Parts: sequence; structure tokens; C-alpha cells
Amino acid sequence: MKHIKIALIPGDGIGPEVVAEGVNVLKAIEQLDSDISFTFTEFPWGCEYYLEHGNMMDDDGIDRLREFDAIYLGAVGYPGVPDHISLWDLLLRIRKAFDQYVNLRPVSLLDPSLTPLKSKSEKNIDMLVIRENSEGEYAGAGDWLFKGKPEEVVLQTGVFSRKGTERIIRYAYEEARRSNRTLTSISKGNALNYSMVFWDQVFEEVGKDYPDVTTYSYLVDAASLYFVTHPERFEVVVTSNLFGDIMTDLGAGITGGLGLATGANINPEKTYPSMFEPVHGSAPDIAGKGVANPIAAIWSVSQMLDFFGEEKWGKAVLDTIKSMIGETANLTPDLGGKASTSEVGNRFVEKLTEKDKN
Ligand SMILES: NC(=O)c1ccc[n+]([C@@H]2O[C@H](COP(=O)([O-])OP(=O)(O)OC[C@H]3O[C@@H](n4cnc5c(N)ncnc54)[C@H](O)[C@@H]3O)[C@@H](O)[C@H]2O)c1
Repeated sequence: MKHIKIALIPGDGIGPEVVAEGVNVLKAIEQLDSDISFTFTEFPWGCEYYLEHGNMMDDDGIDRLREFDAIYLGAVGYPGVPDHISLWDLLLRIRKAFDQYVNLRPVSLLDPSLTPLKSKSEKNIDMLVIRENSEGEYAGAGDWLFKGKPEEVVLQTGVFSRKGTERIIRYAYEEARRSNRTLTSISKGNALNYSMVFWDQVFEEVGKDYPDVTTYSYLVDAASLYFVTHPERFEVVVTSNLFGDIMTDLGAGITGGLGLATGANINPEKTYPSMFEPVHGSAPDIAGKGVANPIAAIWSVSQMLDFFGEEKWGKAVLDTIKSMIGETANLTPDLGGKASTSEVGNRFVEKLTEKDKN
């Protein structure tokens, strides 16, 4: 019997609405498979907590999370709390404390009806973006000098260590080899003449250990163009923290929007818990209306199951997501339907259960 201890951080806005549906999917799997069980412990951290306590999470929060196998997060951020506080004091704190240096973001088209691109099908858009998640442009290094004075200066330093750069690039080569796909590095060596020249050099150096992997290297501006015009060029993609953040929202744009985009923050060595979350934010514009699309959060559940070696269930969840796309009546308004968040969740569980019985 496999047991997975999950810390839930539903967070703000639509976070709790979509996490509730993901948890229902996990509970359904527990019912369908006697070899797997989950426990859930919920933490109330987020912006509301900050407004009441002055902290996004408790001081001993990281120590308390350490004992879990996984963290399942909704979204953080809400009007009234500056975004850099909600991001840095909760999400980035967890990613850094638990050395979740790999951010896995699938960009896969589930159905041709979901893309705004002309004549592109599932075969043309099916990539895995591997984003560096521990340093780079989001290292938090910099300074703010002469604040408020005419000579004011701000510095935001990108930090690219050899260890950090090598390990993410090696992870990507391993994934490309394992899945027999090409590997594309996205960088910007022409303008960022230290960090990205170094990145390109490490990409080449590590590549010597993987002569069997076909590689490409694009500047981020060209890659943005090709994501739209020739997405079929990309299979496994490796890129820096900032570029990965932006490119995967573009990826979401060509595959059906943020309601379908997921991301896993992985500590591959399993020394610390990994964190699974939809890519989207707290969506204050639709929070509380019951119309948030829970599919991105449910896709995170599929990533979680894969990570714990339950690929059979990971695939069953993904296949059920695909089969839902054809049922417009059972989708939320962002995908052209009229269903509520919980109606989508309930229909999902019904389909997953039916599928398991057949
Ligand atoms: N990982 C995170 O927790 C995370 C990520 C991004 C933004 N944020 C925070 O979220 C807040 C809002 O940010 P934003 O508006 O830039 O991004 P957002 O992702 O919250 O919303 C962008 C747009 O997409 C829509 N959308 C997002 N998720 C959806 C879903 N599941 N179903 C249907 N529509 C969905 C929203 O309604 C909105 O129109 C900010 O405070 C920001 O800092 C948090």
C-alpha cells in the first residue's frame, strides 16, 4: 500500500475553489485503488492570513511542511497585498527552501478546438518545458539605492551558478533521452553577455554526455515567434526562470488558456517535498463566482501521481481531461461552456470512475 502525505495550501481567490476539485479526484482514486491512499493537511496561508497576522505563512511553516511528501497549492495573490510580498513570502520561499529546482510545465494541445492557431493539431503542439526554478533572474539579488531621490537606482541581478545551470540542463538532457525527443535550449546570449553566454556554454558542455540527443538552441525572441508559427519544432525545452515563466504563459495561450496550464515544482532527489500547482494565479476577477476552470489544478494531480510512480493513474487523469474537452456543456465559461467549477469536478470524477470500471 502506497501512502502519500499531502499538505494543502489552497491560498487565495480561485485557489481554494480549484484545489477542492483536485482533492476530490485524489479521493476518488483512493476509492478505486486499494493500493493507494492519501492524507490531507490544510494550511490557511495566503493573503487573507497576511492581512490578519502580518505573515504569508507561519514562522515555522517551512519546518512543518518538511514532513510531507507533496504540497498541493492553489494560487496566491490578492488585491490589497503587494504581489511581490505574496509571491516571495510564500511561493518562492517554498520553492527555494525545498530546492525545487525543476519546474515542469507541459504545453500540450488536448484538442484542435482549443488553439487559436490555424491548422494546428495535437501532433503539432506537444512539448514539455523544463524551467530553472531556483535562481537565475528570480534569485532575489539586487539593491534599491537612493530610494525616492532623483539619483534613484535599482539593480536586479541574475544569478547563474555552475551547479544550478548544470543540474537543470542535465535534467533536461536526461528527460529528452528517456522520452526519445529533441531538446531545445532557449536563451539570449547575444544581449545577456555573461549569464546567457554561460548558459549556452553549459548547454554545449553537458551535451557532450548525450550525443544521442538532437539539440537546438534559440534566442528567446525567435523562440516566441516559433511557439506561435512552428510549435512543432519544440519537444523538450529547457530555459531560465524568467524566460520559462513567460514562455509557458505563451504556451498556455496556444493550448486553451490558463484554465488548462499546469506546473510541478520538483525536487528530483526527493530530499524535500515537491509542490504541484496550476500555472494560473488567484484570478480576483472571477473569484467567488464558481466559474473557475478546475482542469489545470486537476492536471497537477496527474503530475503528482506520475512523480510518485503512479503513472497508470497519472495517465488515467490526463485521458479523462482529454475526454472532457469534447463535452462543451460540462466545461466552464473560459472553454465555451456554462458549467460551474464543482459541476466540472463532479463530471470529471464520474468519468474517471466509469473509465476505471470499463
Ligand atoms: N502561482 C501563483 O500563485 C500565481 C501565478 C500568477 C499570478 N498570481 C497572482 O494572482 C493574482 C492575479 O494575477 P493575474 O490576474 O495576472 O493572473 P491570473 O492567472 O490570476 O488571471 C489571468 C486571467 O486568466 C483568468 N483565469 C486564470 N485562471 C483561470 C481559471 N482557472 N479558470 C478560468 N479563468 C482563469 C482570470 O480570470 C484572468 O482573466 C495576482 O495577485 C498575481 O500575483 C499568482
